[in-house]
Amino acid sequence: MSRFSLPQDPAFQAMNTSLSFDRRLWPFDVAQSRAHARMLAARSIIGDDDLTAILAGLDAVEAELRDGSFPFREDDEDIHMAVERRLTEIVGAPGGKLHTGRSRNDQVITDLAMFTRDSAERIIGQLEALRRVVLEVAQAHLDWPLPGYTHLQRAQPVYLSHHLLAYFWMTTRDIARFRAVLDATAELPLGAGALAGVNFDTDRRMVATELGFDGVTANSVDSVSNRDFALDLLHALSVCATHLSRLGQEIVLWASTEFGFMTLSDAWSSGSSIMPQKKNPDAAELLRGKAPRVWAHQAALHGVIHALPLTYNKDLQEDKEHLFDAVDTVEICIAAAQGMLETAEFHREAMSAAASDQMIAAVDLADFLVVRGTPFREAHGVVARLVREAVEQGRTLADVTVAELGDDAASVFEQSSWLESKVSEGGTALARVREQLDLARAQLA
Ligand code: ARG
Repeated sequence: MSRFSLPQDPAFQAMNTSLSFDRRLWPFDVAQSRAHARMLAARSIIGDDDLTAILAGLDAVEAELRDGSFPFREDDEDIHMAVERRLTEIVGAPGGKLHTGRSRNDQVITDLAMFTRDSAERIIGQLEALRRVVLEVAQAHLDWPLPGYTHLQRAQPVYLSHHLLAYFWMTTRDIARFRAVLDATAELPLGAGALAGVNFDTDRRMVATELGFDGVTANSVDSVSNRDFALDLLHALSVCATHLSRLGQEIVLWASTEFGFMTLSDAWSSGSSIMPQKKNPDAAELLRGKAPRVWAHQAALHGVIHALPLTYNKDLQEDKEHLFDAVDTVEICIAAAQGMLETAEFHREAMSAAASDQMIAAVDLADFLVVRGTPFREAHGVVARLVREAVEQGRTLADVTVAELGDDAASVFEQSSWLESKVSEGGTALARVREQLDLARAQLA
């Protein structure tokens, strides 16, 4: 019997179904159902023979889902309904007892918490691998000078190792954000029922333990309304994607003929359909291009939840595609970043030549005057004038400087001195970069 006298309009069905995307939740749904059934039997809410039938049936359902033979039906509204429908087809009446003391509202958020945790753990693993690669590439290019830029204008030279290690620390903060997501999924929502709790004396802690949660949520209304951890994961993903977009942009620049600082492996480049000479950094461009869809998903889920009255509303079904696409996108991006970095070839000569532009020594020249007793602001003015004279007269900065300040100013124009003078903690002097590498290695251990 049904409460309804008319079948669903096909357009409504198409709008309402989530099966095309939520079927990927099945491993969590099946695991959750096993734990829930065991608890129901332990509390004598269902019989032991029911439990035996349900567990055997879930094994069969799982096998079908795994090998792709699961018979999905047009009218399966979502993965939860599909699994229960199929279970009941296989084992008969006991299948109908599985949903005792459970609602799809607490079921779906439990699956989603498990998915979120699983994704965060996998991405933490990927980021740890990326960090290792960044560290190795930095180590391998320890004393290679590179211009550091502000406004994309040559600013001050740094070692390539130092520049690359910036990505190590960005990735380290990313990992911390994903760890915080794990904390946000630590409590089991299952047992909240539709919203008010259930009419059985269930053992939520037993289910929590079996499913790897640290405890249970304190409030059933909050449990089925909460999507915080989805927002948290989207935030962690957004920041991570944004970081990778900056790496992508730097690779695009560095791999260009104009910079010539690096060559990407053929495995991470593509050709042009018309220009035979082209070797394009598509993967790096896609690190740039894919980031905005990740934070757009974050913005979209904020929009879905914005002003939504408690508790469950069907709007919340819209959480999944945003989360799934963001996770998939970031996983691909991290793999690409790692792959490009570990196979790229850097060009010492080109980087070093760009980093020996004398103009890059302007701060060092000002500091040279400071050491001689000139206040910094005044020294800044003197050097600005020397730079202008050099540019206007078509002479080198060193020339103009030595003529005006004497021979001992010449030492300021040695590239190695600009790098090795940056001795402050966290600076680019080699001793400081070595310290940093030690610090980074300790983080990995
Ligand atoms: N497919 C639904 C979702 O993803 C599952 C929960 C449905 N609950 C309900 N009361 N209609 O949100």
